[in-house]
Amino acid sequence: MIYAANFKTNHTRKSTENYIEDLQRKLVDKNEEDRVFIFPPLTALDAYEGDFTIGAQNAYPVESGAYTGEVGVEQLAEFNINTILIGHSERRDILGESQEVVAKKFAFFKEQGFEIIYCIGESLEIREQGLEAVMEHLVSQFEGIDTTYENFMVAYEPIWAIGTGRTASVEEITMTHDALKKVVDKPLLYGGSVKGANIAQIAAIDNVDGVLVGGASLKTETFLELVLH
Ligand code: 13P
Repeated sequence: MIYAANFKTNHTRKSTENYIEDLQRKLVDKNEEDRVFIFPPLTALDAYEGDFTIGAQNAYPVESGAYTGEVGVEQLAEFNINTILIGHSERRDILGESQEVVAKKFAFFKEQGFEIIYCIGESLEIREQGLEAVMEHLVSQFEGIDTTYENFMVAYEPIWAIGTGRTASVEEITMTHDALKKVVDKPLLYGGSVKGANIAQIAAIDNVDGVLVGGASLKTETFLELVLH
C-alpha cells in the first residue's frame, strides 16, 4: 500500500519538522513494502531523510526564471525533491488550472524524471449522473497526459468526498477503480475523507493500491492509524 499525506495549506516549517521526527520514529513498525509520501507546504520543504518520500504539492514547470510567486525545479532540487502532486482538484477548481496547464506540468515534470501523483476526480453533480458520466469526466482528465510514463500513479479523489467526511462507498470506489484500471494500468490511490474508521474497508478493495489523505494526515497519530492499520 501507498500512504500519501497532503498537508495542503497546513503546518509550518517547525511543525513539519516535529511531525517528521515523530513519524520517522514510529514508521519502524510499518510493512516494509508499504510506501509513505509526505507533501508539506512548499515553505516546509527540506532534505529530510527517512523511510518516506517528501514531495511538492505544486511547482511551476520551469527550471527557474521570471515567474513571480512560483518555484521551479531549481528550488526543489535544493532539497532533493523529485516527487510532485499534479492535477489536484483544489488547484484545478480554486486556483484555476485548466487541463491544458495540468498537462503541461505533467509533460515537464515527466521530462525531469519526477515521480508524479496525478489527481483526478468528479463533482457531485457528475457523480449523480452515474458511473458512465463519471468515467467520461475522469477519462477527459487524462487529455494530454502520457499514461505510459513509468514513474507515475493516479489518485482518484471525488471532489464531493474531499474534506466533507463523506467517503465514497466501497461499491463506488470498487466500480470506479475497476474502470480506471482498464484506462490506465498504474498504481491507483483513493482520496476523500480517508480516516482510521474506514481505512480497513478501503484498503481491502482490490484495485486500491493506496490512499491520498488530507485531514487525517495532519497529526502523526491519525496518519499512523492508517499506515499501521
Ligand atoms: P481529505 O482527506 O481531507 O478529505 O482530503 C483529501 C485530499 O484532497 C487529499 O489530497
